[in-house]
Amino acid sequence: MVVVVDSLVKVYGDNGYVGPISLSMKKGEVYGLVGPNGSGKTTTLRAILGLLKPTRGKVSVFGMDPFNNPEKVNQMVGYSPEIPVFPSFFTARKLLSLSCQLKGLRGKDVAEEVERILDLTGLVNHADRKVGNFSKGMVQRLSIGQALVGDPELLVLDEPMLGVDPVGRAHIREILQGLRKMGKTILFSSHELYEVERLSDKVGMVYLGKTVLENAVSELISQNGFQRSVQAVVKKPVDDRLVDALSVVEGVKSVHADGVVLTVDLEGLNDPRDKIAETIVASGYGLVELKTTSPSLEQVFIKMVKNGAAT
Ligand SMILES: Nc1ncnc2c1ncn2[C@@H]1O[C@H](COP(=O)(O)OP(=O)(O)OP(=O)(O)O)[C@@H](O)[C@H]1O
Ligand SMILES: [Mg+2]
Repeated sequence: MVVVVDSLVKVYGDNGYVGPISLSMKKGEVYGLVGPNGSGKTTTLRAILGLLKPTRGKVSVFGMDPFNNPEKVNQMVGYSPEIPVFPSFFTARKLLSLSCQLKGLRGKDVAEEVERILDLTGLVNHADRKVGNFSKGMVQRLSIGQALVGDPELLVLDEPMLGVDPVGRAHIREILQGLRKMGKTILFSSHELYEVERLSDKVGMVYLGKTVLENAVSELISQNGFQRSVQAVVKKPVDDRLVDALSVVEGVKSVHADGVVLTVDLEGLNDPRDKIAETIVASGYGLVELKTTSPSLEQVFIKMVKNGAAT
């Protein structure tokens, strides 16, 4: 486990209270933390970074207590805060160089690391512009960039898409997907549930200060009483032969045919789409379209909040 948060409680004087929050993530996992405003996402991330001391509960990062080992944690974790603020008169290149020096890099290692990060974040062409002229999307990318300095094992990104337009979001998504492919362990919070669903191996939902759900996206969906289905369109009307062949595919719960449209309800956590497509093609029906009609994470989230899941 890279991160374990066990029943974290943070009391903010008379003003606020967060917890108990529990979550855990393994090496190489991308973890999306979601929850309404004020539910405790930033508090949790800051406790993981050792920036605040839990009132109760335990936080462990690479087996260490982050609050008591700030320097070690700082070497192993990269952080992009919820609202990144940079001195506006510096260029991106200068700011990244300073971040490299703070992480202990020197000499030509700094120049090489700055180039690597400019490239990873798509900021090569903006490297020598003053950050005060940057769009929100570019500031977020620079903030992710400074988290990447020194190639830390864990990235903690607090709302990396906050205030960014759809094109900018797609760009950040690509960056995060690239980091995921590189095997980075990433913990991020976001209100962009569609993005969380696409990017995350695991999702944690906090509500009224408590973790109420934590699981793989597909499991969250099936746990919450939603049906995941695959819809296939074929070239000629379906008969029982194909329905029977599909019914025995592992992970298929039931099959319903209506002319050239097949609805295949799934069970468990399987993803038998390849096998469904193969079975249709092998049966000679010709496959025109195959799509999943799973409910979105957004539907699960709205259901959870409406039901007052944590109350
Ligand atoms: N420094 C602080 N002083 C007092 N209360 C605080 C402080 N930081 C957070 N809180 C309170 O703790 C609760 C959780 O806040 P937190 O910022 O962790 O939520 P969040 O899930 O990140 O919200 P958002 O989606 O708005 O970013 C809120 O009630 C908030 O008012
Ligand atoms: Mg927050």
